[in-house]
Amino acid sequence: MKILALAASSSSTSINKQLATYAAGLVAGAEVEALDINDYEMPIFSEDKEKELGQPEQAKAFFQKIGEADAVVISYAEHNGSYSAAFKNVFDWTSRVDMKVYQGKPVIMLATSPGPGGAATVLAAATGSAPYFAAEVKGSLSVPSFYDNFDIEKGELRNEELIAELKTIMSTL
Ligand SMILES: Cc1cc2nc3c(=O)[nH]c(=O)nc-3n(C[C@H](O)[C@H](O)[C@H](O)COP(=O)(O)O)c2cc1C
Repeated sequence: MKILALAASSSSTSINKQLATYAAGLVAGAEVEALDINDYEMPIFSEDKEKELGQPEQAKAFFQKIGEADAVVISYAEHNGSYSAAFKNVFDWTSRVDMKVYQGKPVIMLATSPGPGGAATVLAAATGSAPYFAAEVKGSLSVPSFYDNFDIEKGELRNEELIAELKTIMSTL
């Protein structure tokens, strides 16, 4: 199984990248490809820009990456209760290539933040809208207080309850 793991964040030190990579690694025997949305940077979407540029190669390439995967693990950064602008931009452009961005793939949706809210607001938005974008959401999990619950040195969760929950979710792939 080929899993595409990505953070909906453009931060080079993204905690969501750490979570997505760790989660994907829990699937035994899976081939994990980490995608960095910085490789798909485009001008801020507008219909005017779309008329000018058409469908940027980056949007088509992002869509193709999802298409080539058997499953997607995505972890959302929360900026002011919503998606990071960087991710939303990639998503908006890609949705103009094809609104079925996730192409019917099984998707695990995660989110984390340093605070107790665990980016649950953006995660709820993502899971709630997933059917419109042809994501077959197999499970979702918000990890609160990332730095308390994740061992950065080891690159793994250290909260037993969260580990068990995540393992259950990942076993659905
Ligand atoms: C502009 C901005 C807004 C933020 N808003 C929220 C928020 O609404 N909720 C939250 O839990 N964390 C918020 N944070 C903190 C992020 O959760 C934190 O920066 C986290 O590291 C982002 O994930 P990432 O490291 O994967 O990019 C915000 C951070 C920034 C820079």
